[in-house]
Amino acid sequence: MLDLPYTFELNPPGFVPSHYDNHIRRTLTSMRGQYLDAAAYEAMLAAGDELLYEVYELARPHESGELLHGISIVHPGKVGDEYYMTKGHFHTVLETAEVYVCLSGQGAMVMETPEGDWAVEWLAPGRVLYVPPRWAHRSVNTGPDDLITLFAYPGHAGHDYGTIEQQGFRKLIVERDGAAVVVDNPRWGKMEGEKG
Ligand code: F6R
Ligand code: ZN
Repeated sequence: MLDLPYTFELNPPGFVPSHYDNHIRRTLTSMRGQYLDAAAYEAMLAAGDELLYEVYELARPHESGELLHGISIVHPGKVGDEYYMTKGHFHTVLETAEVYVCLSGQGAMVMETPEGDWAVEWLAPGRVLYVPPRWAHRSVNTGPDDLITLFAYPGHAGHDYGTIEQQGFRKLIVERDGAAVVVDNPRWGKMEGEKG
């Protein structure tokens, strides 16, 4: 059956889509092993399994002609000195790209390739980020409010979370003297994250 074009609304301040099919909520437990300060992580978890980020997806077939799209909302906060962030992933089909449009908030996209390249791009309202094929990506909220982005990527891309869970990202975004800075991840290549 032929699909019909559709629209939906993204209204400030929350930008929750007026129509969506899936609402994914990721809490602290899904980030076990990813934050550098393990003691701070355990202390926070003992106080409650806080909600770190949410994704609103519109369902489309996972086929190459399709574009999967939705809204990602990373809440503000830190574990130790490290800002709340998404799990991050490579696309299973490495040769697939993604577009992000920052709608609200302040943050960064941390990226790297299997070949060892890395990049950090800062996000602010109105800024568009193109993540080329091969680049793993993780959004980080460095501000006091929600970091809200719209994303779109090919339907057949798939998600490889396991590689990042095992090796981490080469760079971390941490707060130093009140500012967000990029630092080396001393545990890169030897993370202890759980699969899932
Ligand atoms: C899809 C994509 C985003 C993220 C979302 C949550 O390919 O990059 O929609 O899925 O920002 O991050 P993850 O998937 O890393 O938990
Ligand atoms: Zn992606």
